[in-house]
Amino acid sequence: MSFNKIAILCLGGILLGTPALAGEKSGQTQIVSGEDEFLWNCAECHGFEGKGDGPLAKVLIKPPTDLTAIARNNLGVFPGEKVFRMIAQADEVTGHQSFQMPKFWERFQQSEGRRGYDTAEVRIQAIVDYLETIQAP
Ligand code: HEC
Repeated sequence: MSFNKIAILCLGGILLGTPALAGEKSGQTQIVSGEDEFLWNCAECHGFEGKGDGPLAKVLIKPPTDLTAIARNNLGVFPGEKVFRMIAQADEVTGHQSFQMPKFWERFQQSEGRRGYDTAEVRIQAIVDYLETIQAP
């Protein structure tokens, strides 16, 4: 087997195999944790700790929101349903049109039914639940 083939197989394993493996190990219905979903899908803009300082933040005209301050900016209450809709993009979010925060509902739906991937609804809810755990006091 050529080196290239091995390299492609390894890359495929990283891109496709990891979520399935994670699910098999944990044995839970939730296949990938909300934290992992966040790190893979959101951290590039919103930062690895959600504070709005991801590597792509510098090239965006409007900075990505500090996601640890959602509760603080809402009288101390984390508005879970609203955050769900903002991520799924049922609600318009200022800046998303021009800065193209991906439409995660559509994006996650494309993976539905593939081994190792849960439904868009389960995955977005997992991210919402994770965001709730990183709210600043
Ligand atoms: C390509 C960059 C990018 C990615 C990737 C991204 N976002 Fe965003 N996000 C933004 C920008 C820019 C804004 C709007 C900032 C503004 O208008 O003030 C935003 C706003 C938001 C808001 C609205 C906050 C508020 O209170 O109005 C939420 C919630 C949010 N993002 C969550 C997420 C989550 C969860 C993910 C991953 C599933 C994600 N974002 C991925 C760029 C991104």
